[in-house]
Amino acid sequence: MALQVVNLTLLRVLDLSGVSISSTIPLNFSSHFTTLVLGHSELYGVIPESIFHLPKLKILDLSINYHLNGYFPKTKWNSSASLTDLNLQGVNFSGYLPESLGYLTSLNNLFLIFCNIWGPIPESLSNLTLIEYLFLTGNFLNGTIPSSIFSLPSLTDLELSNNHFSGQLEDIKSNSLLSIDLGNNQLQGHLPESIQNLVNLTTLDLSFNNFSGSVDVSFFSDLKHLSSLGLSYNSISFTNENRVNFTLPESLLYLRLAACEVKELGFLRSVKKLEDLDLSNNKLQGRFPDWASSNWMFSLKTLNLSHNMLTSVDLTPFQSLQTIDLRSNSLQGSLSMPPNSTTYFFISENNLSGEIPSSICNLTSLVMLDLARNNLKGAILQCLGNISSLQVLDMHHNSLTGTLPNTFRFGSSLRSLNLHGNKLEGKIPQSLANCKELQVLDLGDNHLIDIFPMWLGTLPKLQVLSLRSNELHGSIRTPTIENIFPNLRMLDLSSNAFTENLPTGLFQHLKAMRTIDQTMNAPHYEGTDGYYQDSVAVVSKGFEREIGRILYLYTVINLSSNKFGGQIPSIMGELIAVHILNISHNGLEGHISSSLGSLSLVESLDLSSNHLVGKIPEQFALLTSLEVFNLSYNHLEGCIPQGNQFQTFENNSYEGNDGLRGFPLSKGCGNDSVSETNDTVSELNDEESNSEFLNDFWKGALMGYGSGLCIGLSIIYFMISTGKLIWLARIIVEREHKIMMGRRKKQGRQRNNRRRNNHF
Ligand SMILES: *[C@@H]1O[C@H](CO)[C@@H](O)[C@H](O)[C@H]1NC(C)=O
Ligand SMILES: *[C@@H]1O[C@H](CO)[C@@H](O)[C@H](O)[C@H]1NC(C)=O
Ligand SMILES: *[C@@H]1O[C@H](CO)[C@@H](O)[C@H](O)[C@H]1NC(C)=O
Ligand SMILES: *[C@@H]1O[C@H](CO)[C@@H](O)[C@H](O)[C@H]1NC(C)=O
Ligand SMILES: *[C@@H]1O[C@H](CO)[C@@H](O)[C@H](O)[C@H]1NC(C)=O
Ligand SMILES: *[C@@H]1O[C@H](CO)[C@@H](O)[C@H](O)[C@H]1NC(C)=O
Ligand SMILES: *[C@@H]1O[C@H](CO)[C@@H](O)[C@H](O)[C@H]1NC(C)=O
Ligand SMILES: *[C@@H]1O[C@H](CO)[C@@H](O)[C@H](O)[C@H]1NC(C)=O
Ligand SMILES: *[C@@H]1O[C@H](CO)[C@@H](O)[C@H](O)[C@H]1NC(C)=O
Ligand SMILES: *[C@@H]1O[C@H](CO)[C@@H](O)[C@H](O)[C@H]1NC(C)=O
Ligand SMILES: *[C@@H]1O[C@H](CO)[C@@H](O)[C@H](O)[C@H]1NC(C)=O
Ligand SMILES: *[C@@H]1O[C@H](CO)[C@@H](O)[C@H](O)[C@H]1NC(C)=O
Repeated sequence: MALQVVNLTLLRVLDLSGVSISSTIPLNFSSHFTTLVLGHSELYGVIPESIFHLPKLKILDLSINYHLNGYFPKTKWNSSASLTDLNLQGVNFSGYLPESLGYLTSLNNLFLIFCNIWGPIPESLSNLTLIEYLFLTGNFLNGTIPSSIFSLPSLTDLELSNNHFSGQLEDIKSNSLLSIDLGNNQLQGHLPESIQNLVNLTTLDLSFNNFSGSVDVSFFSDLKHLSSLGLSYNSISFTNENRVNFTLPESLLYLRLAACEVKELGFLRSVKKLEDLDLSNNKLQGRFPDWASSNWMFSLKTLNLSHNMLTSVDLTPFQSLQTIDLRSNSLQGSLSMPPNSTTYFFISENNLSGEIPSSICNLTSLVMLDLARNNLKGAILQCLGNISSLQVLDMHHNSLTGTLPNTFRFGSSLRSLNLHGNKLEGKIPQSLANCKELQVLDLGDNHLIDIFPMWLGTLPKLQVLSLRSNELHGSIRTPTIENIFPNLRMLDLSSNAFTENLPTGLFQHLKAMRTIDQTMNAPHYEGTDGYYQDSVAVVSKGFEREIGRILYLYTVINLSSNKFGGQIPSIMGELIAVHILNISHNGLEGHISSSLGSLSLVESLDLSSNHLVGKIPEQFALLTSLEVFNLSYNHLEGCIPQGNQFQTFENNSYEGNDGLRGFPLSKGCGNDSVSETNDTVSELNDEESNSEFLNDFWKGALMGYGSGLCIGLSIIYFMISTGKLIWLARIIVEREHKIMMGRRKKQGRQRNNRRRNNHF
């Protein structure tokens, strides 16, 4: 549909909001227009400046047209006398707020939310004496907030959250303000006392700033209409000096005091209708008080008490709870059942014991259930498979027994199933094949007895499959279905009893491991809701760790500690996206396939404890991402490739291979300038080359190797007296070079890690 109607000369009002127009905005609107409402209309292109100059325009709403760009007039707008409502939410202005906004002296409502505007708020905004709603949320505005904003005589709602405002808050002189949201900026200093005078205030959100000092409950005692208060994540300690006299106002519905050093809840006693309480990351101890349950049993919908030291919270009285977060407390005893309205229930990292009550299956609205890291026992409930809304089921690290539920139905929403580290028995239930949304399946560290579940390969979204440390056995046969495991990025079958050859037929599929996805550099993962982060335990770089957010950035194959035999198939070299490859502790034979030299992203390569023979392929010198390299306990021989990463590996990468030579091993290699056996004597006799070498050595030692010098010197004295000068000297030089490289590399890695962590 094109905008043709616009030059009907008598038309004054055009409201097509929500109508999919899908066009640019035409240039010649009739000058009679008073109202132009084109929100949600899929408009694109650039807003013609002439729109801002329609002389009778009162209402202009072009909100939520995400492909629309615009420029504010720099001079006086011809609509300035008439314009009362300006809503440009989501329109891309990519620029400063112009002084010319100050001419809009009739303006009541200004909504410039997510408009990609930056720089300071112009002082001219103090001219907007009729403005009631000023919303500049979600931009890149910075500098201090002009104090004149807080004196605007008609302003009721001020929303400046999610910007980069800094500095201290000046006195707030307004008599009209009802709602102030300055969350997520960089404001600092103490809360201005003048807030206490805003007796009509209903909303105050200062969360995620850098306010400091202690704030006492009494600060808010005159704000009798306050319904929403947020001070989370500042440097504030929220105190209750005079326990008897003050509580927060009765009217309170939303309270967010995360990370405010709150120790007890008495200040909420007279609050009767609380709906949303966030006291996470505080210093609450002991039992969650009973008066709280009776006060809020009908009203409370969201409860976040995570990261405290609570030992008991009775959820049974509450009848309206939907979101419950009790992670990381010291909760003891059996699991308290929330009401059937619950959708998100997180209670991991506590000391809960006993069995999971079967009534948990009455929670038919559950979307996420996280009971991980407790001491829960008993049989895992079969009925859990029936909850069709369930997306995340995490019970890892408990002591659950019995067989897995085999009740998963077609249409299941399950996205992540983590039962790692329990005592589950039996087979992997075939009904999991109904869970087409499944992305993460971790059944590791249990007692499952089965063959490889090739049928899981039909799950189109499966990214992570960990079956490690079970009793899986047999050979992994060639799949009969095409396009199996197309999105798998992590396959961990380690510590089972798989036999025969490595699964060549499987490696031919695994599409996600065969292509390097550039976009994987940025984490992209649907639907975590910011509440729950999948994690999986991975053994890499020598120790077990949990990878959480980076899960989707790491491509891993771990087939270690099985009974695989035969040769390493050259097709493994086609899995070019792999970061961690571990096929150690098997019975692999033959030469190392030089194709593994194509794994250009590999950071950890472990082929240790097999029966591999022959040389290390020269191609390995090209593996410049390699940080961990283990070939120990094989029957390898010949020279170790040199250069690049190979300077950084230690002896233990190679030990248990009698035939390997070259750096870092003490046995030198034939084509080195100085080699291991018979030439030492002859070269020692050759005085010239000897002194030349010494010269170089000193130079090197003095220039490059800094702190290693002392050790170097003492060893060389020792060596001169033993006569094996040159050969040993060479080792010292290389050793020190290596130490330096190692140090530099480590620093580099730390930097990288830091960068990575910042990223997430
Ligand atoms: C105004 O719109 C009409 C059609 O709607 C078009 O024919 C005319 O050229 C336009 N005038 C200008 C000045 O753009
Ligand atoms: C604004 O109004 C003035 C006076 O009516 C007129 O001369 C001018 O062209 C108008 N500007 C725009 C951009 O329409
Ligand atoms: C916003 O506009 C600027 C300048 O026209 C452009 O560089 C930027 O990509 C746009 N942003 C979006 C999200 O379209
Ligand atoms: C703001 O108002 C003052 C006086 O009312 C006026 O002189 C000034 O031009 C206005 N500024 C803007 C940008 O409108
Ligand atoms: C505000 O942002 C602008 C544009 O991004 C930048 O040039 C300016 O230095 C910033 N000012 C402050 C005080 O941060
Ligand atoms: C509070 O609201 C009342 C009634 O609307 C009004 O008279 C009074 O001035 C307001 N007080 C303040 C400090 O905003
Ligand atoms: C927070 O404020 C303190 C002073 O109270 C200041 O030292 C610190 O740098 C600020 N931090 C940030 C991140 O702005
Ligand atoms: C607090 O209340 C007690 C009696 O309940 C009273 O003696 C005391 O003066 C009050 N303190 C303040 C600061 O109001
Ligand atoms: C919750 O249970 C009540 C009765 O106990 C029932 O009436 C209601 O339908 C249930 N709600 C859901 C979402 O299951
Ligand atoms: C769970 O639901 C069943 C059937 O709807 C009901 O008989 C049972 O009492 C419920 N259990 C609890 C603890 O609510
Ligand atoms: C609860 O609070 C913690 C810490 O402040 C936060 O990380 C978590 O996302 C919150 N949970 C929910 C469900 O909002
Ligand atoms: C050692 O000397 C023998 C005979 O001179 C020679 O054949 C052999 O290649 C030498 N070994 C090395 C490692 O240079």
